Amino acid sequence: MTFEFLNEHTYLNTASVGLIPNESFNEKINYLNKQQRIGGKIMFDVFETILPQAKEAVSGLINCEPNELAFTANFSTAINYLIPSLKKHNRVLLYEDDYPSLNKPFELNGFEVNYISKNNEHTIKIKEIEHLIIDKNIELLAISQTQFKSGYTIQLKELGVICKKHNCILLVDGTQALGMAEVNVKQSNVDVYISSGYKWLMGGFGVAFTYVNPSFFARITPRIAGYGSLNFEGSTPKYNPSMQSFEPGHINYAPLIALTKSIKLLQEYSLEKARIATTELINYLLNELKKNGLPVIGDFQKQHRLGIVSVTANEKMFNKLNSKNIITTYRSESIRISPYFYNTKNDVDLLIKTISPE
Ligand SMILES: Cc1ncc(COP(=O)(O)O)c(C=O)c1O
Repeated sequence: MTFEFLNEHTYLNTASVGLIPNESFNEKINYLNKQQRIGGKIMFDVFETILPQAKEAVSGLINCEPNELAFTANFSTAINYLIPSLKKHNRVLLYEDDYPSLNKPFELNGFEVNYISKNNEHTIKIKEIEHLIIDKNIELLAISQTQFKSGYTIQLKELGVICKKHNCILLVDGTQALGMAEVNVKQSNVDVYISSGYKWLMGGFGVAFTYVNPSFFARITPRIAGYGSLNFEGSTPKYNPSMQSFEPGHINYAPLIALTKSIKLLQEYSLEKARIATTELINYLLNELKKNGLPVIGDFQKQHRLGIVSVTANEKMFNKLNSKNIITTYRSESIRISPYFYNTKNDVDLLIKTISPE
């Protein structure tokens, strides 16, 4: 995999936008060139190779069947497509500091919303979730697998067990986890899993996917459909509520091609190797921050951390990093650092040297 951007930058910002390997970018460009040459005939490629290959790649990543997936332009669209279908399950539990694109659609659409409160350690306790599910008679829990600010990662398997026990729907935003986390939606009893493709999957902007457990269709009726949701048996279009409901129209196929290629590249390189390399960098970073008296936000155990570390810092520090082409994210008195396997210890050393007190 080649990442040209790394020649000139110290890129520690995958939680914002993952780098797109040159190889994936080129596939996307080849597709666009071909579309320009052959026009609408490209639809043959779309149905014969592009969509099936993309669904195959994502299904392998989360352990589901290809026909249990739908693609949309981004996470926010995917969740908003689902909202009208979830309306029957009105009592919802959210984490109060979760990503707005997950929380807002529930808050704006008349759900009875309850919150898991943020604590000083930035941990989210499964026991507390269970108590809330029981006390508030919760019907649906919607939560990010990895929190976008603190990086706290919840164990999906444990979450799945309690949700199943209390007949609570489990909807997971995997955007900050997938790529770094091993995900098995079936084993973890996840009802709905949505992820955008432009961070840890390195697919670039313009594509996200939704997984819905087929058994879940017994509990919801999709309230969204379009031409793409129809089946053509003979010449008569038929509509059956299904996964196709959530893919109602044409999508932007170029980003889908980049995402598919990036997943394949990750698999060829070895997801396991990428995760180990990132974890080593994260552990090294945590040690160095501690050694240099830089306060980490969220003092939680290592099994709850994937690729994100946030530190308390001011804007001056962030600007200093930027001036040296060290790319991170600044948000309300904190700097979020998110290395990936394409980073090195030297990148961490450079960052530490730049933000450590002199
Ligand atoms: C937890 C989480 N979900 C989703 C997204 C992205 O949403 P979208 O694809 O709608 O831009 C982000 C981006 O930062 C995120 O951190």
